[in-house]
Amino acid sequence: MMESAAVQRLRAASPGMAGFRQLPTPNKDGGVWQANGIPAGGWHRRPGQPRGETETLAQAGEADPVRARARRCLRSSLSAAFPWYIERTQMKVSIIGGAGRVGSNAAYALQLVGWAREIALVDVMTEQAEGEALDLRHGASLANSQVFTSGGYDQVAGSDVIVITAGLRRKPDEPRLALVNRNVALFRSILAEIGKVSLPSNAILLIVANPVDILTQIAVKESGFPRERVIGTGTLLDTARFRSFLGEHFGVAQTQVDALILGEHGDSMVPIWSSATINGVPLASFPGYQEQEVRAIFDATKKSGARVIALKGGAGYSIGLVVAHVVNAIAGDTKQVLPVSTLQTGLHGINDVCLSVPTVIGRGGAEALVEMQLAPEEEEALQNSARVLKETFAQLSA
Ligand SMILES: NC(=O)c1ccc[n+]([C@@H]2O[C@H](COP(=O)([O-])OP(=O)(O)OC[C@H]3O[C@@H](n4cnc5c(N)ncnc54)[C@H](O)[C@@H]3O)[C@@H](O)[C@H]2O)c1
Repeated sequence: MMESAAVQRLRAASPGMAGFRQLPTPNKDGGVWQANGIPAGGWHRRPGQPRGETETLAQAGEADPVRARARRCLRSSLSAAFPWYIERTQMKVSIIGGAGRVGSNAAYALQLVGWAREIALVDVMTEQAEGEALDLRHGASLANSQVFTSGGYDQVAGSDVIVITAGLRRKPDEPRLALVNRNVALFRSILAEIGKVSLPSNAILLIVANPVDILTQIAVKESGFPRERVIGTGTLLDTARFRSFLGEHFGVAQTQVDALILGEHGDSMVPIWSSATINGVPLASFPGYQEQEVRAIFDATKKSGARVIALKGGAGYSIGLVVAHVVNAIAGDTKQVLPVSTLQTGLHGINDVCLSVPTVIGRGGAEALVEMQLAPEEEEALQNSARVLKETFAQLSA
């Protein structure tokens, strides 16, 4: 984003003080210098200014010296203890389809819980994208210091993560795989545009548009990105829905429910009952467990995408959080184990198809796939999911 003329003038007037700005209220030096809301001397000093900050803060008359000290201490101890703290805040994320429901909700989730330094909203609806970016910029002072931009594909240059949300939505009564014919050509044109811009060698593609497993496989085959750096959000949203519903049902913290859905993000998705727990307590031995009831919860999970479409047009907040969750795992190199879609290379005997299994996510992308022990019916259902997706992909190539 271009700096405004005013910022450029201030920068020229204050060499070595990048990030500082001068407030309109003059003090005896002609102005109160401020960075991150803390007047000079609170967190940073002006060149040549004595360390004693109390006077400067009092002159500024608007900063709490205790708060200023606390923020300074927190930041310096964070950067000393966690060198990656500073590094990961340098991440640039582009969202293709950023003016749409999923894209704009993902940007908002990244504003609230993300570590990205810069978020670029790329969309053919340029005015809408500009409006979304402006709205997000308005909230930056209340959330995080981030840069929001919007525009065409030139905005993607230099992105560490490119999130692809552009695509048509399905109708409530339609399976996700029915979107194949409508979204594949659009998806290929987006990959071609991304191929034209300059990106860091470790950039990662995060696919969200549906049918997500099929589009992820197309990206692996056609984008030129290595397979570990192409990730589809896969069944992470289904897993989130499942855990949230189970938590509500048992009256416990949703965040403590550990239950996976694997395979296709679609009709053949597979609930993994055999390892489901509530913070380590097997689901089946949790007070109040009734098999029929939890199976009904899975059915509701499976249908809840269609339900949201029928009620409000499409999912937004939850998939936005899913995007932020994966981006955070990449940015922070946290090695979180997430059910996301990647090209399978032999686990469970499944090859050459993209679907979700537990996957270690870090700065390298999908760093490892985890083969877990499944009950025989779960294993069979996972094989079925692979078969369904392979057949769809074969029809596409035919
Ligand atoms: N993977 C998941 O869990 C999940 C969840 C919800 C939605 N989705 C999918 O995400 C996709 C988007 O859904 P939505 O509700 O945001 O739709 P939407 O119509 O609100 O947004 C799509 C956006 O893409 C933009 N767009 C279209 N062509 C483009 C191009 N060539 N370049 C850049 N932008 C372009 C449109 O202008 C629009 O702003 C759909 O395919 C939907 O099925 C996936």
